[in-house]
Amino acid sequence: MSARSFVDRYGRWAVVAGASEGLGAAFATAFAARGMNLVLLARRKDVLGALAADLRGRGVEVRELACDLADARFAEALARECADLDVGVAVYNAAYSFVAPLFERPLADALRVVDVNVRGPLVFAHALVPPMIARGRGALVLMSSLAGFQGSAKLSAYAASKAFNTILGESLWAELAPKGIDVVASCAGAIRTPGYAKALKKEAPGTLDAADVVEQTLAALGRGPLVIPGGVNKLASFVLRRLAPRASAVGVMSKSVKGLE
Ligand SMILES: NC(=O)c1ccc[n+]([C@@H]2O[C@H](COP(=O)([O-])OP(=O)(O)OC[C@H]3O[C@@H](n4cnc5c(N)ncnc54)[C@H](OP(=O)(O)O)[C@@H]3O)[C@@H](O)[C@H]2O)c1
Repeated sequence: MSARSFVDRYGRWAVVAGASEGLGAAFATAFAARGMNLVLLARRKDVLGALAADLRGRGVEVRELACDLADARFAEALARECADLDVGVAVYNAAYSFVAPLFERPLADALRVVDVNVRGPLVFAHALVPPMIARGRGALVLMSSLAGFQGSAKLSAYAASKAFNTILGESLWAELAPKGIDVVASCAGAIRTPGYAKALKKEAPGTLDAADVVEQTLAALGRGPLVIPGGVNKLASFVLRRLAPRASAVGVMSKSVKGLE
């Protein structure tokens, strides 16, 4: 879809939750390049402000909302911020994860995974999708992960939360396609982002730049419920999901987590 037809199809405003850096910033930059105005959400005001200033320099309007997506009250602030806007595209990108055996961490850590990765996208979609339905057009992107296709040691809460996003995205795709709304769950493999770099010991095969993941994800809108960016990731996912016995898939994933802290 060309930049022009992207605006024609969805409208002028995009919202990105988890936008200050990494993949979220790449989504925001891609929307600005398509001439879309932006509402950007993240916790760190200064980092968000610097990105917003840069994007304004590219000729689009940008609103900033500093909030913690783990706190469901962000929905009220988001509704206020978007009350006078026709939001055409909504991306839930933020995630929280830890790499450790579940019972070596306090329960609060696992509950934070649920708050940011499970409650967050539900609250976000509830705030932004009903007006899209009323207008009969729009798009919702849920960032998921290859980690959500099978269990993995040391990644249990995160992997389960990403399975939730994948299935939520597929389900909403089925519900909303007849209403003119495109939904896609983007099941990414490793991406060069600051968050991934912090957790990394050695770059995984098939690691992609954030901009590539964004372009492949946006290109998938309207083409089906799920996208796996990157050829290596598509192949690995085919083998693990379709060919390997479930226990082997869990074993391979658990081994690959050793590349992370
Ligand atoms: N990176 C990878 O290798 C990889 C692989 C597969 C899937 N994914 C998925 O891709 C998405 C992006 O990954 P990433 O590595 O770029 O993400 P990240 O490091 O988790 O954070 C991305 C953005 O989200 C914001 N954020 C995080 N927690 C937040 C919260 N509680 N409230 C508000 N904002 C929050 C961060 O800004 P602030 O710190 O300013 O809040 C940052 O701008 C995630 O959904 C992840 O699961 C990533």
